[in-house]
Amino acid sequence: MSKDFSFSNRHIDLMERDAKTVFGWRYEPRIILESGKGVFVTDVDGNDYYDLTAGMMCMVLGHSHPELTETIREQAGKLVHESSWYSNPWAIEFAELITSTLPGNLKVVNFAVTGSEANEIAMRMAIAKTGKHDIVSVLRGLHGGSLAVEAVTSVGGERKGGLGPLMMPARSNAILAPFCFRCPVNLEYPSCDIDCLKLSEDMMEHMTSKSVAAIIAESILVPGGMIVPPDEWLPRMRKLADDWGSLLILDEAQLAPARTGKLWAFEHNDVMPDIVTFAKGMSVGLAICGTVTTPEIAEEVAGDAGLPWAGTYPADPLPSAVALKSLQIVLRDNLPARAEKLGIILREKLDGLKERYECIGDIRGKGLYQMLDIVTDKKSKTPDYAMAERFRYNAAMEGVITICVKNYMRVAPPLIITEAEIDDVVGRLETALKRAVAGYPEDIDFSASSSLAARPAAAE
Ligand SMILES: Cc1ncc(COP(=O)(O)O)c(C=O)c1O
Repeated sequence: MSKDFSFSNRHIDLMERDAKTVFGWRYEPRIILESGKGVFVTDVDGNDYYDLTAGMMCMVLGHSHPELTETIREQAGKLVHESSWYSNPWAIEFAELITSTLPGNLKVVNFAVTGSEANEIAMRMAIAKTGKHDIVSVLRGLHGGSLAVEAVTSVGGERKGGLGPLMMPARSNAILAPFCFRCPVNLEYPSCDIDCLKLSEDMMEHMTSKSVAAIIAESILVPGGMIVPPDEWLPRMRKLADDWGSLLILDEAQLAPARTGKLWAFEHNDVMPDIVTFAKGMSVGLAICGTVTTPEIAEEVAGDAGLPWAGTYPADPLPSAVALKSLQIVLRDNLPARAEKLGIILREKLDGLKERYECIGDIRGKGLYQMLDIVTDKKSKTPDYAMAERFRYNAAMEGVITICVKNYMRVAPPLIITEAEIDDVVGRLETALKRAVAGYPEDIDFSASSSLAARPAAAE
């Protein structure tokens, strides 16, 4: 138990019971949250914290948004759950609204419960459409934790430990991330002409069976280090997929809706995927995720590879009605524009921190999704996991909670955050940073806090 936080007996009791009975990853201290309002969450002792990750990036409208609360109340009195072999007005309207916001012919939604499931549906679609079986993914990409998507995930290799034959045999991770800050081929953008992609093609040539059903990528690679690709990268990935007779799947789980300044992050680039998956922010925390594709692909794959995917919960009335309402508000209140505008302000302030502190190697991101890359020093860019965890711990002491995995600290507040709140948050982060740089707290254990950083690995 931390001596820096003063918790009530009830709080301490809940922490101990959580540790004993709930099997999960937890940061220190094990803060137990009880309520939330706007950009704040509140623990069982009544302490408020800025929620810098909007839950798990889900609460784009903030906590307890009055219109969503009302929708939940109303829907709870009408219909919460139903058989998957019947539909409901809210799921239909939600699917129609989603597809109306997407470019091209992305007009059919297969609903899922989790982002992992949505990506597995996408993989099923690609396999059924092409009759091929390899799925190629990007190194440092994350597509979920169920087994098929774990196989194409390469963030947090530690968590694959022991899974052995449960990992899909299909080849994966044959594409190098366009990670300019730590370039995998030691070149500089733009003179590199995205050479990492040329080498990737060579890797595909030699590492796959050449029977590639799909290339799957996050439009911005968030958990792997907020890798914002150069503008040409996604269009070239599109060409690569076409050249190989493969589909292009874009995973927008972390990004849609609106967070990056566009409703869908891939709209920043001139690219048209065959399949798009959505989760977190589109689900408003009620676990309604999904996979969008074209009517042609949907028709062709129907009845094959377990498609369309069903299950017990996807597109249930309650989550559908709430997620529909949320997307309507996102559009009504033009939150993409707000995220773009406030993102510029947030970035300027974070860049100021970077100027002043040697341990902030880089700030990357778009709109209201930024990430601090914590290093031992700017020259070597060596990831500093302990400093990152120290920073996170001190931020919690300052009333700011966030997610920090390995050396990456996220800033992804609800999109309703105000300029004054951004100012306050960055001020608190600086106070936290000063204490972290002074070496406080000394004993830091980041091995218990995240599956992605399960074992203290050597520098990447
Ligand atoms: C990019 C990306 N895709 C997919 C997923 C999986 O989503 P879920 O946790 O809902 O299964 C995640 C989860 O963090 C993610 O970050």
